[in-house]
Amino acid sequence: MLFRLLVKPLLARPLLARPLLAGLTALWLLLGPALPARAEFSLPPLPYAATALEPAIDATTMTIHHDRHHGAYVSNLNGQIAANPALADLSLDALQGKISAFPLAVRNNGGGHWNHSQFWAVLAPEGQGGTPSSELLAAINKNFGSLEAMQSQFNQAAAARFGSGWAWLIRKADGSLAITSTANQDNPLMDLPGIERGVPLLGLDVWEHAYYLKYQNRRPDYIKAWWSLVNWNEVNGRWAKAGVGV
Ligand SMILES: [Fe+2]
Repeated sequence: MLFRLLVKPLLARPLLARPLLAGLTALWLLLGPALPARAEFSLPPLPYAATALEPAIDATTMTIHHDRHHGAYVSNLNGQIAANPALADLSLDALQGKISAFPLAVRNNGGGHWNHSQFWAVLAPEGQGGTPSSELLAAINKNFGSLEAMQSQFNQAAAARFGSGWAWLIRKADGSLAITSTANQDNPLMDLPGIERGVPLLGLDVWEHAYYLKYQNRRPDYIKAWWSLVNWNEVNGRWAKAGVGV
């Protein structure tokens, strides 16, 4: 309809059509090279309903956390592509290990996107997340003494993180497991000073936006309830993929 009403009459008049086509061509030549060469980063959908993690995490918190907070990290990261063309050649995973080459806005939003993407994946409705595999459990016992000792150390790291940040169970390059914590939206994949690096197997968001509606200032209660949601099946897969035995 638009073509018939607007463009077709112009093309029927060569004197008008030529400048129109020349103008469109010039516009394309001007803007084309500035367009990002890759598809933009996108917000992954929650792998379960927003209500699925209740009562440990309420649906309102889940919806706001995913749609608005994670959504903002994704859109802000996309807003950085034009000013940082190197982003066009990197996957979200690869970006983490090269984050020191980018400005703070990419670090914060690229980290926020990666961290939250893993966060939804390592959670499951209560009773549906399975248990640690025998291989992972053996590694936990070897490194921490017991599953309970690992959880206790993890809880301390999560509770002690001042302000906003994350607690992590990671597999280090030497194959050992460790508990660590990062500030803001940093993570253990980032090539930044002061970060204990490793492959994250399990990460807990301790930003207030993750728990404040239900728990207010009771972060330890949120941490305790969160353990009932851990998707061990996913964590087992991350452990296996991270290179056990190599
Ligand atoms: Fe968050």
